[in-house]
Amino acid sequence: MKRLEQVAWQEFQALSLEEKAPYLSDKNKPLHALIAQQFDRGQLDKLNELTTKIRQLAKSKTGNDYLQSLLSHKRAMLYFTQPSTRTFLSFCSACEILGIRIGEVRNTATSSEFKGESQEDSVRTFSSYFDLIIMRSQMGGLAERMAWVLSNTTRPVPIINAGSGKDQHPTQALLDIYTLQRSFENRGGIDHKSIVFVGDLRRGRTVRSLSALLTHYTGVKQYFVAPDALQISTDITTELDAAGVQWETSHSMSELLPEADALYVTRVQDEWDAEQGESSQIDISEYCFTRDHLDLLKPDGIIMHPFPRRTEISHDVDSDPRAMYWRQMRNGMWVRSALIASLFGLREQLMNYPTESA
Ligand code: NCD
Repeated sequence: MKRLEQVAWQEFQALSLEEKAPYLSDKNKPLHALIAQQFDRGQLDKLNELTTKIRQLAKSKTGNDYLQSLLSHKRAMLYFTQPSTRTFLSFCSACEILGIRIGEVRNTATSSEFKGESQEDSVRTFSSYFDLIIMRSQMGGLAERMAWVLSNTTRPVPIINAGSGKDQHPTQALLDIYTLQRSFENRGGIDHKSIVFVGDLRRGRTVRSLSALLTHYTGVKQYFVAPDALQISTDITTELDAAGVQWETSHSMSELLPEADALYVTRVQDEWDAEQGESSQIDISEYCFTRDHLDLLKPDGIIMHPFPRRTEISHDVDSDPRAMYWRQMRNGMWVRSALIASLFGLREQLMNYPTESA
């Protein structure tokens, strides 16, 4: 097994995403959750299975009490220095489901980073008090760097990347996969489905991470619908080519709707604009889903969105049974519980716990 502390940072950083994967998982469990590319099909299937198990156990008080007993001796640090509502609360809930107590830093203006402390020292401080660090940052690669830093200390606690810069949002991709899997349960699962991504695909980290995970499914076609300025980057399409995935770019959402088994809509990520107001020059009206579009979508096609939304999906679409985004969000809480349980090596124990006795 490759170990993070045995490789120099520059060497690790220079590895491809696939080459990093063996450093991030043990034989039986993930050591961290840093990049989507660290999860293979077997791991995804196992995580989905565990998620369903936790979801079922949580339906009863006995099941909940059992879940909450599992990690009541652990503490988690939520280090979220970039805005977040959903992901933050989703992780809080996921921890609470497993009995984990939490601490938080959400603003460096209230932490010692304001006094000039390095992020390395902050994270090492967290690792002194906590058993798990969940972090969101606007710096790409920061979670990886911190996992490497901690691997060289006496408390190499697991790190979960809850969104890093424009590059990665692995846990969002895991919950998106679970949502797709659940939605297509009676239609042969995710294999051979067409996924149509719409919106800001260039700067949307959720799209980038999900696109990578979808390469593990057979015969999945990926369509990228966006104005040129927001189109998917070549680093992703190069990965898709290497994996032999069929993909296409397009400017027309309406044309692709009849093809879509899942439509994955995203907002314009204008917080990354080089000049303020730059994105507002881009006409996105063709990339917004309204009630009229529902007629073009397959009767069993689903609509997803990582949220927050602005105008990309109109509110009157919410009542359509194909609007999956609220269930998608709730799935996130269960998937994150399953991921945390896996990081602490509880998978077997949980899977063997009889659901009926709950
Ligand atoms: C996304 C993110 O932060 O990347 N939000 C989320 O975590 N669900 C998507 C976005 O902000 O548009």
